[in-house]
Amino acid sequence: MDHFTIKNGVMHAEDVSLETLANEVGTPLYVYSSATIERHYNVFAAAVAGLTDGNPLVAFAVKSNPNLSVLATLARLGAGADVVSGGELARALAAGVPADRIVFSGVGKQLPELRAGVEAGILQFNIESEAEILMLGAVAASLDKTVEVAIRINPAVDPKTHGKISTGGADAKFGIPWDRVADAFALAAAQSHLRPVGLAAHIGSQLTDLGPVEDTIRKLGTLAKALEAQGHTIKRIDCGGGLGVPYRSDQPAPPSPAHYAAMVARATQGWPWRLMFEPGRMIVGNAGVLVSSVILTKEGASKKFVVVDAAMNDLLRPSLYGAWHDIKALRPKSRTEIATVVGPICETGDTFAEDREVEALEAGERIAFMTAGAYGATMASTYNSRPLVPEIMVSGAKWAIVSQRNQPEAMLALDARAPWL
Ligand code: LLP
Repeated sequence: MDHFTIKNGVMHAEDVSLETLANEVGTPLYVYSSATIERHYNVFAAAVAGLTDGNPLVAFAVKSNPNLSVLATLARLGAGADVVSGGELARALAAGVPADRIVFSGVGKQLPELRAGVEAGILQFNIESEAEILMLGAVAASLDKTVEVAIRINPAVDPKTHGKISTGGADAKFGIPWDRVADAFALAAAQSHLRPVGLAAHIGSQLTDLGPVEDTIRKLGTLAKALEAQGHTIKRIDCGGGLGVPYRSDQPAPPSPAHYAAMVARATQGWPWRLMFEPGRMIVGNAGVLVSSVILTKEGASKKFVVVDAAMNDLLRPSLYGAWHDIKALRPKSRTEIATVVGPICETGDTFAEDREVEALEAGERIAFMTAGAYGATMASTYNSRPLVPEIMVSGAKWAIVSQRNQPEAMLALDARAPWL
């Protein structure tokens, strides 16, 4: 459920007309609905609230939308944060997420990042390799701080999602192969300043089949019990993120948070350990849209093209993954046609929709790419020297620019002419 609805013939984010925002700020622009973010977080948190010890940690995957206002909205609700870089850690802390609700994931954390996490006193590092155990052990010892860690396992399961966002397969770069986890745990326990207290897994994103997630959670349980039998103390099990969201209004929706929680309840029956979750897309995906204007339409040899002012640099998902985003006119129209919706960038991959039935659009009209709140603005670039797309947050009838469009002059100022030129 989201709060992008048609009122008085125009799409609104909550009580704010997207047309008004497009007129005032210019297009393209991202618009987020705080009520939708809040609703999704609360629905997910409520669904998992009663599991195991009744004190789960829902750590929002910052990578899905690191905007400070998005993070601050979630921090106020009590969310934790799953961060994967020093930059994300700094953002989570700046947004008011308490350090003891922050988990640091990632396959290649660098020394300054490890140091920053240790100094901030975060809840836990999810460690992905034996080498990282030694790196973090040395950092923690040098700062004389004891650090709690979980071992991220590679469960060798097929998450049945797009290959580029699958992370659970045996050959993926993520985690420690599950048959080496006991050794890794012992290695961590042997470091003077590390305390291994948990296990973690994250098998992929936009998951629509809960079977592989259930298999993974059961594997985590089996391993945790074996580790306890070897004398280790387990406190937490991190189930990762990955729950899919509906991108297409014409297709069945992925499992709901309630379905997901029922599956987790089944798989974790009788567990004494605290659970952690790292949802990203599920919280923010449907809470954002990318608003764009039609520059012109043109007839190709056999196709009609609608050329819009948003491009692959603003919303990369269609180009990178062939991802589908529903496209809607801000002023709904009764007439549809088959068109190919493209951006202005000079490559054919800059295509949002190929031969798709869309509302019949003309130059100057505004459209919204739906479900663009996750992995949208954060994956934007300045390719073709286009300014970074601004972001707006709406709450009821209020709105604010929460990330500025950087100006071409400011981008140019970052470059320098080599002395010999
Ligand atoms: N935890 C870890 C360790 C992750 O790597 C990820 C996502 C998440 C949690 C959150 O997953 P979510 O709940 O959002 O599915 N750019 C891609 C998605 C990449 C996901 C990377 N990891 C896309 O646009 O589809």
